[in-house]
Amino acid sequence: MKHRSGRLELICGSMFSGKTEELIRRLRRASIAQQQVQVFKHSLDQRYDEIKLASHSGADLAALPVTSAAEILANLRPETTVVGIDEVQFFDYEIVALVQELADRSLRVVMAGLDLDFRGEPFGPIPYLLSVAEYVDKYHAICMVCGEDACRTQRLVNGQPAYYDDPVILVGARESYEPRCREHHLVPHREPQAALADRA
Ligand code: TMP
Ligand code: MG
Repeated sequence: MKHRSGRLELICGSMFSGKTEELIRRLRRASIAQQQVQVFKHSLDQRYDEIKLASHSGADLAALPVTSAAEILANLRPETTVVGIDEVQFFDYEIVALVQELADRSLRVVMAGLDLDFRGEPFGPIPYLLSVAEYVDKYHAICMVCGEDACRTQRLVNGQPAYYDDPVILVGARESYEPRCREHHLVPHREPQAALADRA
């Protein structure tokens, strides 16, 4: 039962907002609907399990770890109708062309990933994916400081906010990150936004 037309769905938001859990939920429903589902995740993320999608709350689903868009294509089975991709922010820009091609071939592609890095800046290919996806959902966690909706991820190094010029990629969970709202998200050593606007 192939879908009549393909589509791209992007589930994004901060860490601990339930992205992977929602991805698993959609893929399980697709299986119940007799779709042929294949699941990939970026192999940088081996926090809970190497060959599974695993949410912070404990839900899981078997997934093939890959490092590139080409590897997804090489492992795609001809009968597959629904493709799930977790940690999509870690892929390079080739992922955009790949998922577009899959949707053009009438596949449904469901992706999950961080919209923003710890600095509050767009993460990898996400801005492109936000534009080309037919369906976009932004999820929120709870700010660990005030309890409001959290749209950002605070990186903490020895309990202190990480500096702006820290490396963008640092795999981790509760030991290094917590969700925060805009007001309580701190990035020391970042130039004020006004200075950036002056330069533009
Ligand atoms: P999650 O969104 O599924 O919880 O996982 C996000 C992963 O991304 C986690 O391993 C931490 C990592 N990460 C970075 O590498 N850099 C960042 O700036 C942030 C916020 C997360
Ligand atoms: Mg996740």
